[in-house]
Amino acid sequence: MTSATSDNELKELEEKLLGEVAGAGDLDVLEQVRVSAVGKKGSVSALMSRLGKMPPEERKAFGQAVNSIKARVTHALDERKAALAAQELEKRLANEKEDVTLPIRLGPQFEGRIHPVSQVSDELVEIFADMGFSVAEGPDIESDDLNFTKLNIPLEHPARQEHDTFYFGPCSVKTDNGEAERLVLRTHTSPVQIRTMMASKPPIRIIAPGRVYRCDSDQTHTPMFHQIEALVIDEQTHMGNLKWVLEEMCKAFFEVEEVKMRFRASHFPFTEPSAEIDIGADAIGKPGEWLEIGGCGMVHPNVLRNCGLDPEVYQGFAFGMGIDRMAMLKYGLPDLRAFFSGDLRWLKHYGFSVLDVPTLAGGLSP
Ligand code: DAH
Repeated sequence: MTSATSDNELKELEEKLLGEVAGAGDLDVLEQVRVSAVGKKGSVSALMSRLGKMPPEERKAFGQAVNSIKARVTHALDERKAALAAQELEKRLANEKEDVTLPIRLGPQFEGRIHPVSQVSDELVEIFADMGFSVAEGPDIESDDLNFTKLNIPLEHPARQEHDTFYFGPCSVKTDNGEAERLVLRTHTSPVQIRTMMASKPPIRIIAPGRVYRCDSDQTHTPMFHQIEALVIDEQTHMGNLKWVLEEMCKAFFEVEEVKMRFRASHFPFTEPSAEIDIGADAIGKPGEWLEIGGCGMVHPNVLRNCGLDPEVYQGFAFGMGIDRMAMLKYGLPDLRAFFSGDLRWLKHYGFSVLDVPTLAGGLSP
């Protein structure tokens, strides 16, 4: 009798629990069902606690019956859980959509700007890289020997005065033959020519953008500014090649089909012949005017010799240009001093988006 009651009771409980499992509409409700059924204080566990008071002959059968209910309910719980999880995922996949065509957030663009000098350096590097030049570097603090002497500017040469050099204190370094030599803040990027020729064998084709220093300050001069140097050395290079490279560079840089260019005879101790480079300002909307962008020439035989190259075998050309000047010309920036005053309003106005990386294929300027 007892056993028949228990059987019915167990059956009813199982049906009730399975019904609750099947009816649980989401994972939270299912968890509540699990706790109230097979949790420590749940209805199935409560049945187990009855075992102790049962006569031994009933205990075994009852225990087995409760255990199998527990197993079936647990199985049903697992299955329902898997089904509900799958349903929830389906729902999220159907509702949550990622629109990959949306424009990117504007935040990062406005937080940082690329300085016009960096932008123009990158543009120039891109142009010269396309012509097969690689980028060389040298230190800002340079020896007097590399900044002047090896460039065929001996001690008494007037060009030393023209450079308004920042000298370091006396006896800054010792030369190879033990003499004390002063260090300088490099006055131009030309010592990178020397470093390159001393360190590598021709053919050489490098550019060297970087900071240079002269004790000079007004609207178009700052004590620190930027130059880009170029050097080509092999056995046959001539002035015609130099002119072609400069013309191609200007066309690409100013993004125009035609650039008027003229060489004005000049003098640099490290080149012979030497010339100053002017471009017709038509390209930048000032018809009839000429603008000087830099100096150039064929590398002087003494310079080649100073670097251990035989001038009977090798020759080449070099040029140096002001990067800041190029930036002023291309982007219409009037005052050079503003470049280095660290005024964020200026940078916000004249700076470039971090995403406008200059490439020849995609266009140099934004
Ligand atoms: N170093 C020169 C200057 O700062 C510019 C220059 C002129 C560089 C002629 C050259 C060159 O490489 O060939 O004024």
